[in-house]
Amino acid sequence: MHNITLINGDGIGPEISESVVKIIKESGLDINWDFQSAGADVIESEGTPLPQRVLDSIKTNKVALKAPVTTPIGKGFRSVNVQLRKDLDLYANLRPCKNLPGVKTKFENVDLVVVRENTQDLYAGVEEQIDENTAHSIKIITREASERICRFAFDYAIKNGRQEVCVVTKANIMKLSDGLFLDSYRNVAKDYPDIKQREILVDNLCMQLVQDPTRFDVLVLPNLYGDIVSDLTAGLIGGLGVAQGANIGFDCAVFEPVHGSAPDIKGQNKANPTALLLSAIEMLKYINEYDYAKKIENALFKTLSEGFKTADLGGNHSTSEFTDAIIKNLL
Ligand code: NAI
Repeated sequence: MHNITLINGDGIGPEISESVVKIIKESGLDINWDFQSAGADVIESEGTPLPQRVLDSIKTNKVALKAPVTTPIGKGFRSVNVQLRKDLDLYANLRPCKNLPGVKTKFENVDLVVVRENTQDLYAGVEEQIDENTAHSIKIITREASERICRFAFDYAIKNGRQEVCVVTKANIMKLSDGLFLDSYRNVAKDYPDIKQREILVDNLCMQLVQDPTRFDVLVLPNLYGDIVSDLTAGLIGGLGVAQGANIGFDCAVFEPVHGSAPDIKGQNKANPTALLLSAIEMLKYINEYDYAKKIENALFKTLSEGFKTADLGGNHSTSEFTDAIIKNLL
């Protein structure tokens, strides 16, 4: 029996979490879910969107599945996601991006992986208001954090039979910060002679990705570029509803979809649970439950191939109809 923390999130979070918990239960795998609420809903009762009990639960269980949490724009509390990644030192954000059966997109054979540094860059939250009309955000890049994310990307490439790790920067303009990230990549790459190396500027990468994404394999990027590029790559395989993710540290891992809490479709039984389900499948592999991971993945792929689709993929099936169809396909 596995103990796993489940943060069911805001917006569509509770609906897609319910779907995924149900599918895993019906697959026959016994998981003791430790339900922990976080985000906008708990601020009033607990005074913080990320109570210590949530962090303690993840530290104890080592693994969490997390649905999206709302972050207010411009004012209000700091992002729970950013805080969680920082507090648990989940330094690697892994976003595999692969075409799904039955989901027609512009390109076939997209199969790339975005490895995003998760703790630094403009996301470090170091900002200052100089005067009423001027604000500064400070971009923090260290050699230590840059080398460990590059090493993670190369190790991932070796473990998963990948050929190339391409580093993405804007080192021609941000010569010091992105220059340090690039230099760290070059240092680490020396230890991986069997993996092809490549360097690209982020603007050129975006242009090439929309022309032909099959040119890329593993991408390693500082935090902000990683965030933006991984939404772009999500669009290449069918959109946010199918884009999975994981935040991995030395001690703990938190698996979550790329998308946010989608308040525009909250409570309408319309949300696509695929991104959270794919994240959960990766989580099952992480805890060495490969057979169950495969069983659920096969059921999902079969369901999509049969034409069951939620509205974001151009279909007309509700979250619950899609969930029931996957459960029927669990063989
Ligand atoms: P969003 O990803 O929530 O939504 C963007 C668009 O995609 C919306 O039209 C939405 O309906 C659609 N969409 C997203 N996921 C979907 C799904 N599973 N099924 C069907 N349609 C889906 O991005 P937005 O609107 O920018 O952010 C909403 C909130 O989520 C914000 O407060 C933001 O801070 C937060 N957020 C949280 C994240 C997390 O917890 N990891 C990640 C990204 C955003």
